[in-house]
Amino acid sequence: METILESNKTLLDEIIAGLSAERKSLPSKLFYDEYGSKLFDQICELKEYYLTRTEQQIMMDNISGIVEAIPKNSLLIEFGSGSSTKTRLLLDRIKHLSGYVPIDISEEHLHKSAEKLRKEYPGLDVYPLAADYTKPLRLPKISRDVEHRITYFPGSTIGNFTNTQAKEFLTVIAEECGIGGGLIIGFDLIKDRNVLLAAYNDKEGITAKFNLNILRRLNKEFGTDFNIESFKHNAIFNEEESRIEMHLISLEDQTVRLGEEKFYFNKGETILTEYSHKYTIEGFKELAQDYFTIKKYWTDENNYFCIAYLEVK
Ligand code: AVI
Repeated sequence: METILESNKTLLDEIIAGLSAERKSLPSKLFYDEYGSKLFDQICELKEYYLTRTEQQIMMDNISGIVEAIPKNSLLIEFGSGSSTKTRLLLDRIKHLSGYVPIDISEEHLHKSAEKLRKEYPGLDVYPLAADYTKPLRLPKISRDVEHRITYFPGSTIGNFTNTQAKEFLTVIAEECGIGGGLIIGFDLIKDRNVLLAAYNDKEGITAKFNLNILRRLNKEFGTDFNIESFKHNAIFNEEESRIEMHLISLEDQTVRLGEEKFYFNKGETILTEYSHKYTIEGFKELAQDYFTIKKYWTDENNYFCIAYLEVK
């Protein structure tokens, strides 16, 4: 998997490098074309996929504590804001925000939801920024005084990074927010492996479709000739690394072509498509400790998920 510094390479280079490696992999950002994003929305509604529901519940149960943690005259910056659905819980209650900067890669969607937000929150200055947030950002000019910069990064998306990438990412946020700045982050907790496995191998097969959609997309957009029927979704829990790993297993010996390139698959060989790390609170503290102190955190009654408020050191 690439590091953030390598992410300037074109997507095609990444794909070729991933499929040529001894342990084949594809970048998980490929999941999110229009169809994939719809499948992801369906995943979030699944009975087995506890993450979205649990995070939402923690937010609702602890909203006053979370809002209290955010200092006056803060600029709220959200990475991967989508429709800013979860953020509305915060925006409904935080007074004295200097502005809100939703950042998302999908420009059209971002501008539409920013328009909606402006109508719903007439007193709020909204500064949409279309960008890939894993790359260095230039924040827009803010007209009101900003005393603190607070980043909001929900959804356990941090878990999809390798630990090295996660550390790099936290460094970028810490530098972006500066001393006294903060980070409100959602991350998934280690739990019974059967609960984890069920969440990523759902009975209806939506996660399988989501995973296989990568191959469909490569055929459509990059001209590969994957026979999608000859690959199968599988998610495993790697206990040692404390992460779910999503794979596509080749069901036969086969060759896949991309222009002049040829990729050979043995029966049973897999393409790694995603990591989804699961943390202990202690482990997350360690991950962030070079730049952040955990000031407060909130969990649900099953200890399935955690939302934490971290302050830049
Ligand atoms: C976006 N991300 C936090 C999801 C996760 O759980 O790691 C992506 C996902 N992959 C399979 N199901 C959902």
